[in-house]
Amino acid sequence: VSRWDPRATIAAKRDGRTLEPEEVERFVAGVASGEVSDAQAAAFLMAALLRGLDDDETLAMTRAMIASGDTVTLPDLGAPTVDKHSTGGVADGVTLLFAPMAAAVGLAVAKLSGRGLGHTGGTLDKLEAIPGLRTDLTPDELARQVAEVGCAVAAQTARLVPADGALYALRDLTATVPSIPLIAASVMSKKLAVRTDLILLDVKCGSGAFMRTEPEARELAQACRRLAAGDGRRCGVAVTDMSQPLGGAIGNALDVAEAVEVLAGRVGGRLRDLAIVFVADAIVALLAEEPETARRRATSVLDDGSALERFREMVAAQGGDPRVADDPWAVLPAAPVRTPIATRSAGALAEVAAANLGTIATGLGAGRLRKGDPIDPAVGIVLEIGIGDEVGEGDVIGTVHARGQDEADGAAAAVLDALTFRDPPVDAPPLVLDHLPAEPHARG
Ligand code: URA
Repeated sequence: VSRWDPRATIAAKRDGRTLEPEEVERFVAGVASGEVSDAQAAAFLMAALLRGLDDDETLAMTRAMIASGDTVTLPDLGAPTVDKHSTGGVADGVTLLFAPMAAAVGLAVAKLSGRGLGHTGGTLDKLEAIPGLRTDLTPDELARQVAEVGCAVAAQTARLVPADGALYALRDLTATVPSIPLIAASVMSKKLAVRTDLILLDVKCGSGAFMRTEPEARELAQACRRLAAGDGRRCGVAVTDMSQPLGGAIGNALDVAEAVEVLAGRVGGRLRDLAIVFVADAIVALLAEEPETARRRATSVLDDGSALERFREMVAAQGGDPRVADDPWAVLPAAPVRTPIATRSAGALAEVAAANLGTIATGLGAGRLRKGDPIDPAVGIVLEIGIGDEVGEGDVIGTVHARGQDEADGAAAAVLDALTFRDPPVDAPPLVLDHLPAEPHARG
């Protein structure tokens, strides 16, 4: 019997051939087992980026990635289960809202999240800003908490889709991240490995996202949806605006404090609006309500305090200080230096280099440059204006929260450099660019 040689697969993709599903599966299994070297995997990734992968190849890759590790099957929780995921953005704290809101309407949310990387923030980092809060829940703890509270947000372990961990690290090193099939396989392998009744995917689009243009974002959204369908799973997708930070807070403790304000019904805006969109989609898909009724229900759990109560219970169940729900700054770590950001000239905010804002926050210590770097939960940026808003010269439009005054001054100047003001009027961009809800359940 001759030994399998990964070079045949690399050469076939290099030459633009469409691979058989079995070839793709064999190759990814070889990556997971160590039979395929990093050099070979990287060559394959570059060939795939340049030549493309069709739907069957991408599905085969996704399935093989899932098969490289554990899958999570939840016990019967007495409620339909839903997972919501964002492809990564700036000030995108929707999960902090979605999980308790969905629990408050009677759905079960067992969410496995990742950490921030590069300019994007991560839900786990945000939650861990709450003193005492643990995200390393065992599968049993996760299931028990969801049964009791309705929601849990835990760290995805190294055993969940280990092939993605290996491939993503190589993509990062070899400039092969921006490939739609590779991103779709990476994102969806981690979603499909957890057996929920519904996946909701937020594909971010714009200056703070991996997909900068709407056609690319739509293509990624469609690719992810086809992967879910190929695996027999229900999936709703929205392409949403990331041409500016979604919320006002770019950091970790700052994001938690903002989430509490939204959960308490005290703050409106795009972050609240988008959380309502996804919770309403989940209600339509899983509880068979009409869209208008679903929207009202999603909104009511913010206005009647029931989502905030679920958040408090979730934090307490995970060992965090539940007083965060009543008075966030009584428990969250605050930065020693706060510097106002004052405009240099009058105008209407027209453009935001949103990824730069994420990078500035990372530079303050809120994010990480390399996997495993420590972060500072207290620091970050609060930006109080959005595209279309008009300002006068010298108006305070936000605050930098930092460890030292020099860093704070540098960051405030860099934030202004990331903002472009023009003569008014400037239109605010739409929040939802494309909306592809899951197929409704057969009714009756
Ligand atoms: N998020 C992922 O999990 N993978 C990608 O490739 C891009 C964003």
